[in-house]
Amino acid sequence: MQSKVEGNYHAALVAQEESALPEGDVTVAIDYSSINYKDALAITGRGPIVRKFPMVPGIDFAGTVIESINPEYKTGDKVLLTGWGVGEKHWGGLAGKARVSAEWLALLPQGSDARHVMAIGTAGFTAMLCVEAVLNHGVKPEDGPVLVTGASGGVGSCAALILAQLGYQVVASTGRPAEADWLRNDVGVSEVIDRAELSAPGKPLQKERWVAAVDTVGKPYAG
Ligand SMILES: NC(=O)c1ccc[n+]([C@@H]2O[C@H](COP(=O)([O-])OP(=O)(O)OC[C@H]3O[C@@H](n4cnc5c(N)ncnc54)[C@H](OP(=O)(O)O)[C@@H]3O)[C@@H](O)[C@H]2O)c1
Repeated sequence: MQSKVEGNYHAALVAQEESALPEGDVTVAIDYSSINYKDALAITGRGPIVRKFPMVPGIDFAGTVIESINPEYKTGDKVLLTGWGVGEKHWGGLAGKARVSAEWLALLPQGSDARHVMAIGTAGFTAMLCVEAVLNHGVKPEDGPVLVTGASGGVGSCAALILAQLGYQVVASTGRPAEADWLRNDVGVSEVIDRAELSAPGKPLQKERWVAAVDTVGKPYAG
């Protein structure tokens, strides 16, 4: 539980009655929640993540429905949640139970379990959305290399892994040369470049090097 007393943030493990849970039409017994960067900011109070105190952090979770007044979900359903302001303005996943709106939930994909989906976590899900955008733009593996920036980070490494497994030639931009072997051997990228290369000012009429990019860093590269 995260609280703010006289301007100071305070995080503690506290026992709560179920009646203290916020309003919602589905109550879930939580099996797993991932620790996201946002959760770290919320717990340490280093970023303005929590918008309502007291707050249970945890921007995602997976678990089992124990009570539902919404016909879309029934007791025993295996569900997951990511986002929707949960852990920021609605009590989140770092707890035994959560009560949420049914529209924020999704059934676990077939063949997965709560641990697996939370191992992928919100970072992995974000990476999937990035890769989906590349696919939706009609970019095919044979079209040429795809750049991933922030490649040793959470979203970047997941995006690079998925792209490589789909057969794309992935060029990883990183500021951490010590991660180059891991990026090549475990993530499966074809080439590793120094992120400093992308911060240098561009020149007019430069040659196109990549057919697509998953840019998890987002700063303007051209000088
Ligand atoms: N994680 C999520 O669930 C999530 C969800 C939605 C959106 N996002 C957004 O996606 C972006 C990446 O998030 P993340 O979770 O992957 O963060 P992360 O794990 O901290 O990775 C970010 C990566 O950016 C690179 N980087 C750090 N400082 C840099 C600098 N000064 N210049 C250039 N590159 C730098 C580093 O990669 P290298 O060392 O390899 O260069 C770092 O690992 C953020 O903007 C975040 O808000 C994240």
